[in-house]
Amino acid sequence: MLAAKARLENVEKARIFLTERGLIDNDFKMAKDGDYFYFPIKKKMKSDLFAIVSYNFETRKSNEDLRSTLSKKLTKKEFAHLKTSFDTIGSIAILEIDKELRKKEKIIADSVLAANKNLRTILRKSGRHSGEFRTQKLKYITGERTKEAVHKENGVVMKLDVEKVYFSPRLSTERQRVANQTKPGENILCMFSGCGPYPLVLIKLQPRIKSIVSVEKNPVAVKYQKENIAMNKLQKIDVFCGDVRKIVPKLKNRFDRILMPLPKNAADFLDVALAAAKKGATVHFYDFLHESSFNDAVEKIKAACEKSKLSFKVLSINKCGQHAPRVFRICVDFKLI
Ligand SMILES: C[S@@+](CC[C@H](N)C(=O)[O-])C[C@H]1O[C@@H](n2cnc3c(N)ncnc32)[C@H](O)[C@@H]1O
Repeated sequence: MLAAKARLENVEKARIFLTERGLIDNDFKMAKDGDYFYFPIKKKMKSDLFAIVSYNFETRKSNEDLRSTLSKKLTKKEFAHLKTSFDTIGSIAILEIDKELRKKEKIIADSVLAANKNLRTILRKSGRHSGEFRTQKLKYITGERTKEAVHKENGVVMKLDVEKVYFSPRLSTERQRVANQTKPGENILCMFSGCGPYPLVLIKLQPRIKSIVSVEKNPVAVKYQKENIAMNKLQKIDVFCGDVRKIVPKLKNRFDRILMPLPKNAADFLDVALAAAKKGATVHFYDFLHESSFNDAVEKIKAACEKSKLSFKVLSINKCGQHAPRVFRICVDFKLI
């Protein structure tokens, strides 16, 4: 839904500005993510205090209802372990339930389902994102027995199996941030493209991009990505299934912009990206780093550029999500010069 995204230092002024105009939608809970605060709003409004983005807010009433229902069904000790915020992909909710609450997981899941009319299936995380495909084991708990969701974001619709394909709804503003930088006529390479959120959002928000080459190794993600391109009636995206290291060197094109959304080990592929980049190209390089060592990402870029005899300048370092306490997903935007 519509959100006004304000830097933390502007939150108070933005709140007053939006409240005075009656723009805040009080059915939803405001949210904080990294250095930004998100206000749920009823309609678009221009201001220097915030940017208009899309954001998945929790409903205020459903969360209050849920806590009040569960406070009667759980002991005080159990209630202290309860996490009532969760990710939603389409009509599937993915809950995190502490081991102390496992015996009550069906009660919790049924209550979440009852409190949220937009949900049809409740799954529980039963592992971390792992392996080359960055997928996560999810246990079905209640509702419609499916792991396939249809999710809307930034004006596109995406179908995916939430267990067999990596997807994070929390990255919608990051995809919008990158899309806002693209220019008409660009040839773009999207490495590690999953079920297609980056290519789809980029072409949707900047239809005058010349072409996008999209590379993904997980065949299930590629199957969905092709389906998603067709479902959104979008053109100009060429999808390749396979290893970036094998596919990209064989491509004839050189690129104006390269996306590397594999924070766990994108550095291992910087040589491939640099060889495929035009002079002056912009690269969006993702990494997971502790807040005290964001500069390590720049060092990785520097080492790769030196090896490839290229010069670069950092355009910006962006926090785009929290991975662990004080560890962030960051994106370094850099330009080859
Ligand atoms: C963190 S996920 C990001 C997916 C997608 N861009 C998104 O934002 O939802 C990284 C993706 O890279 C893919 N991947 C990992 N290693 C790869 C490689 N060597 N070549 C191509 N794809 C790879 C994984 O299968 C996974 O889908």
